Amino acid sequence: MGYKIAIDGPAGAGKSTVAKSLAEKLKFVYIDSGAMYRAFTLKIIKKKINVEDKNALINVLMTTNISIADDRIYLDNVDVTDEIRARDVDKLVPIISSIPEIREIMVNIQKNIAKHKDIIMDGRDIGTVVFPDANLKIFLTASIEERAKRRTKEIRDKGVCANYEDILLDMKKRDEMDSNRPVSPLQIANDAIVIDTTNKTVEEIVNEIIYLMGDH
Ligand code: DC
Repeated sequence: MGYKIAIDGPAGAGKSTVAKSLAEKLKFVYIDSGAMYRAFTLKIIKKKINVEDKNALINVLMTTNISIADDRIYLDNVDVTDEIRARDVDKLVPIISSIPEIREIMVNIQKNIAKHKDIIMDGRDIGTVVFPDANLKIFLTASIEERAKRRTKEIRDKGVCANYEDILLDMKKRDEMDSNRPVSPLQIANDAIVIDTTNKTVEEIVNEIIYLMGDH
Protein backbone atom coordinates (compact mmCIF):
# COMPACT_ATOMS: atom_id res chain seq x y z
CA MET A 1 0.00 0.00 0.00
CA GLY A 2 2.74 2.46 0.98
CA TYR A 3 2.69 5.17 3.61
CA LYS A 4 0.82 8.30 2.50
CA ILE A 5 1.36 11.79 3.87
CA ALA A 6 -1.08 14.46 2.69
CA ILE A 7 -0.02 18.09 3.03
CA ASP A 8 -2.65 20.70 2.24
CA GLY A 9 -2.90 24.43 2.70
CA PRO A 10 -3.12 27.75 0.87
CA ALA A 11 -0.48 29.10 -1.55
CA GLY A 12 2.73 30.15 0.16
CA ALA A 13 2.10 28.27 3.41
CA GLY A 14 5.39 26.43 2.88
CA LYS A 15 3.92 23.17 1.58
CA SER A 16 6.40 22.42 -1.19
CA THR A 17 9.49 23.42 0.81
CA VAL A 18 8.40 21.32 3.76
CA ALA A 19 7.24 18.38 1.62
CA LYS A 20 10.46 18.34 -0.40
CA SER A 21 12.67 18.39 2.67
CA LEU A 22 10.55 15.75 4.40
CA ALA A 23 10.64 13.49 1.33
CA GLU A 24 14.43 13.76 1.17
CA LYS A 25 14.78 12.82 4.82
CA LEU A 26 12.35 9.92 4.64
CA LYS A 27 13.31 8.75 1.12
CA PHE A 28 9.66 9.11 0.07
CA VAL A 29 8.47 10.19 -3.37
CA TYR A 30 7.28 13.81 -3.43
CA ILE A 31 4.45 14.92 -5.71
CA ASP A 32 3.46 18.58 -6.07
CA SER A 33 -0.16 18.28 -7.23
CA GLY A 34 -0.39 22.04 -7.87
CA ALA A 35 2.42 21.66 -10.42
CA MET A 36 0.25 19.13 -12.26
CA TYR A 37 -2.65 21.60 -12.53
CA ARG A 38 -0.13 24.23 -13.62
CA ALA A 39 1.40 22.01 -16.32
CA PHE A 40 -2.03 21.28 -17.75
CA THR A 41 -2.91 24.99 -17.64
CA LEU A 42 0.30 25.80 -19.53
CA LYS A 43 -0.73 23.39 -22.27
CA ILE A 44 -4.15 25.03 -22.52
CA ILE A 45 -2.50 28.46 -22.85
CA LYS A 46 -0.07 27.20 -25.50
CA LYS A 47 -2.74 25.45 -27.50
CA LYS A 48 -5.00 28.51 -27.14
CA ILE A 49 -7.94 26.39 -26.00
CA ASN A 50 -11.01 28.32 -24.93
CA VAL A 51 -11.44 27.62 -21.20
CA GLU A 52 -15.21 27.69 -21.65
CA ASP A 53 -14.95 24.68 -23.97
CA LYS A 54 -15.12 21.95 -21.36
CA ASN A 55 -15.05 19.09 -23.85
CA ALA A 56 -11.91 20.41 -25.47
CA LEU A 57 -10.28 20.72 -22.05
CA ILE A 58 -11.21 17.16 -21.13
CA ASN A 59 -9.92 15.84 -24.47
CA VAL A 60 -6.61 17.61 -24.04
CA LEU A 61 -6.16 16.33 -20.49
CA MET A 62 -7.01 12.75 -21.52
CA THR A 63 -4.23 12.86 -24.10
CA THR A 64 -1.68 14.70 -21.95
CA ASN A 65 1.22 13.02 -20.24
CA ILE A 66 2.25 14.66 -16.96
CA SER A 67 5.12 13.11 -15.06
CA ILE A 68 7.30 14.11 -12.15
CA ALA A 69 10.86 12.95 -11.51
CA ASP A 70 13.60 14.37 -9.30
CA ASP A 71 11.83 17.66 -8.62
CA ARG A 72 11.23 18.32 -12.31
CA ILE A 73 7.84 18.25 -13.97
CA TYR A 74 7.38 17.07 -17.54
CA LEU A 75 4.52 17.95 -19.84
CA ASP A 76 4.39 15.45 -22.72
CA ASN A 77 8.02 14.62 -21.92
CA VAL A 78 9.20 18.26 -22.01
CA ASP A 79 10.60 19.82 -18.83
CA VAL A 80 8.26 22.71 -17.88
CA THR A 81 9.37 23.14 -14.25
CA ASP A 82 10.17 26.84 -14.62
CA GLU A 83 7.54 27.77 -17.19
CA ILE A 84 4.63 26.66 -14.98
CA ARG A 85 5.46 29.46 -12.48
CA ALA A 86 4.72 32.23 -15.01
CA ARG A 87 2.11 34.82 -14.08
CA ASP A 88 -0.26 33.91 -16.90
CA VAL A 89 -0.35 30.37 -15.51
CA ASP A 90 -0.89 31.77 -11.97
CA LYS A 91 -3.91 33.65 -13.29
CA LEU A 92 -5.57 30.83 -15.22
CA VAL A 93 -4.86 27.84 -12.98
CA PRO A 94 -7.61 28.59 -10.39
CA ILE A 95 -10.18 28.69 -13.20
CA ILE A 96 -9.01 25.42 -14.76
CA SER A 97 -8.69 23.70 -11.39
CA SER A 98 -12.25 24.62 -10.43
CA ILE A 99 -13.75 22.49 -13.23
CA PRO A 100 -15.14 19.28 -11.66
CA GLU A 101 -14.45 17.03 -14.69
CA ILE A 102 -10.83 18.18 -14.82
CA ARG A 103 -10.39 17.54 -11.09
CA GLU A 104 -11.85 14.08 -11.40
CA ILE A 105 -9.35 13.09 -14.10
CA MET A 106 -6.47 14.74 -12.25
CA VAL A 107 -7.33 12.98 -8.98
CA ASN A 108 -7.27 9.63 -10.80
CA ILE A 109 -3.86 10.42 -12.30
CA GLN A 110 -2.61 11.37 -8.80
CA LYS A 111 -3.98 8.20 -7.21
CA ASN A 112 -2.29 6.11 -9.91
CA ILE A 113 1.07 7.81 -9.48
CA ALA A 114 0.89 7.11 -5.75
CA LYS A 115 -0.07 3.44 -5.93
CA HIS A 116 2.13 1.17 -3.80
CA LYS A 117 4.57 3.98 -3.02
CA ASP A 118 5.60 5.79 0.13
CA ILE A 119 4.52 9.23 -0.90
CA ILE A 120 4.16 12.82 0.22
CA MET A 121 1.72 14.78 -1.88
CA ASP A 122 0.90 18.43 -1.35
CA GLY A 123 -2.05 20.43 -2.65
CA ARG A 124 -5.52 21.59 -1.62
CA ASP A 125 -7.60 18.40 -1.58
CA ILE A 126 -5.06 15.68 -0.83
CA GLY A 127 -6.32 14.79 2.67
CA THR A 128 -9.97 15.30 1.75
CA VAL A 129 -10.23 13.76 -1.75
CA VAL A 130 -7.04 12.22 -3.17
CA PHE A 131 -5.96 10.23 -0.09
CA PRO A 132 -8.91 10.26 2.32
CA ASP A 133 -7.19 7.32 4.07
CA ALA A 134 -3.75 8.92 4.28
CA ASN A 135 -1.64 7.73 7.21
CA LEU A 136 -0.96 11.34 8.18
CA LYS A 137 -2.72 14.55 7.15
CA ILE A 138 -1.10 17.90 7.72
CA PHE A 139 -2.65 21.30 7.02
CA LEU A 140 -0.11 24.11 6.82
CA THR A 141 -1.11 27.74 7.26
CA ALA A 142 0.61 31.12 7.61
CA SER A 143 -0.56 34.73 7.57
CA ILE A 144 -1.31 36.07 4.09
CA GLU A 145 1.41 38.76 4.42
CA GLU A 146 3.98 36.11 5.28
CA ARG A 147 2.83 33.94 2.40
CA ALA A 148 3.04 36.83 -0.10
CA LYS A 149 6.49 37.71 1.24
CA ARG A 150 7.70 34.14 0.69
CA ARG A 151 6.26 33.96 -2.83
CA THR A 152 7.91 37.32 -3.71
CA LYS A 153 11.28 36.04 -2.50
CA GLU A 154 10.83 32.75 -4.34
CA ILE A 155 10.27 34.57 -7.65
CA ARG A 156 13.09 37.10 -7.04
CA ASP A 157 15.47 34.26 -6.18
CA LYS A 158 14.90 32.99 -9.71
CA GLY A 159 16.08 36.35 -11.03
CA VAL A 160 12.57 37.42 -12.03
CA CYS A 161 11.11 40.84 -11.04
CA ALA A 162 8.33 40.59 -8.47
CA ASN A 163 6.20 43.22 -6.78
CA TYR A 164 5.06 42.35 -3.25
CA GLU A 165 1.80 44.35 -3.47
CA ASP A 166 0.81 42.67 -6.77
CA ILE A 167 1.57 39.25 -5.35
CA LEU A 168 -0.39 39.96 -2.18
CA LEU A 169 -3.38 40.99 -4.26
CA ASP A 170 -3.10 37.95 -6.57
CA MET A 171 -2.83 35.71 -3.55
CA LYS A 172 -5.95 37.16 -1.91
CA LYS A 173 -7.88 36.58 -5.13
CA ARG A 174 -6.55 33.04 -5.52
CA ASP A 175 -7.28 32.18 -1.86
CA GLU A 176 -10.83 33.32 -2.33
CA MET A 177 -11.31 31.31 -5.53
CA ASP A 178 -9.67 28.17 -4.09
CA SER A 179 -11.74 28.39 -0.88
CA ASN A 180 -15.10 29.22 -2.41
CA ARG A 181 -15.25 26.95 -5.44
CA PRO A 182 -18.10 24.44 -5.22
CA VAL A 183 -15.92 21.39 -5.99
CA SER A 184 -13.13 20.37 -3.59
CA PRO A 185 -12.65 23.78 -2.00
CA LEU A 186 -9.62 24.25 0.21
CA GLN A 187 -10.80 22.62 3.42
CA ILE A 188 -9.15 21.22 6.51
CA ALA A 189 -9.82 17.47 6.71
CA ASN A 190 -11.45 16.45 10.02
CA ASP A 191 -8.45 14.33 10.94
CA ALA A 192 -5.75 16.76 9.76
CA ILE A 193 -3.22 18.31 12.09
CA VAL A 194 -2.91 22.07 11.57
CA ILE A 195 0.54 23.63 11.75
CA ASP A 196 1.00 27.43 11.54
CA THR A 197 4.36 27.98 9.81
CA THR A 198 4.54 31.77 10.27
CA ASN A 199 7.42 31.85 12.74
CA LYS A 200 8.86 28.40 12.28
CA THR A 201 11.86 27.15 10.34
CA VAL A 202 11.50 24.42 7.73
CA GLU A 203 13.55 22.13 9.95
CA GLU A 204 11.25 22.66 12.93
CA ILE A 205 8.18 21.82 10.86
CA VAL A 206 9.80 18.76 9.27
CA ASN A 207 10.82 17.46 12.70
CA GLU A 208 7.32 18.10 14.03
CA ILE A 209 5.84 16.03 11.18
CA ILE A 210 8.34 13.19 11.71
CA TYR A 211 7.41 13.21 15.40
CA LEU A 212 3.70 13.02 14.47
CA MET A 213 4.40 10.00 12.23
CA GLY A 214 5.23 8.10 15.38
CA ASP A 215 1.55 8.22 16.38
CA HIS A 216 0.23 7.46 12.89
O1 DC B 1 0.02 25.17 -5.01
P1 DC B 1 -0.03 25.96 -6.32
O2 DC B 1 -0.10 27.44 -6.12
O3 DC B 1 1.05 25.57 -7.26
O4 DC B 1 -1.41 25.52 -6.99
C1 DC B 1 -1.80 26.01 -8.23
C2 DC B 1 -3.32 26.07 -8.34
O5 DC B 1 -3.86 24.76 -8.44
C3 DC B 1 -4.05 26.78 -7.21
O6 DC B 1 -4.94 27.73 -7.75
C4 DC B 1 -4.83 25.71 -6.52
C5 DC B 1 -4.91 24.59 -7.51
N1 DC B 1 -4.76 23.29 -6.88
C6 DC B 1 -5.88 22.54 -6.67
O7 DC B 1 -6.98 23.01 -6.97
N2 DC B 1 -5.79 21.30 -6.11
C7 DC B 1 -4.60 20.81 -5.78
N3 DC B 1 -4.54 19.58 -5.25
C8 DC B 1 -3.44 21.56 -5.98
C9 DC B 1 -3.54 22.81 -6.53
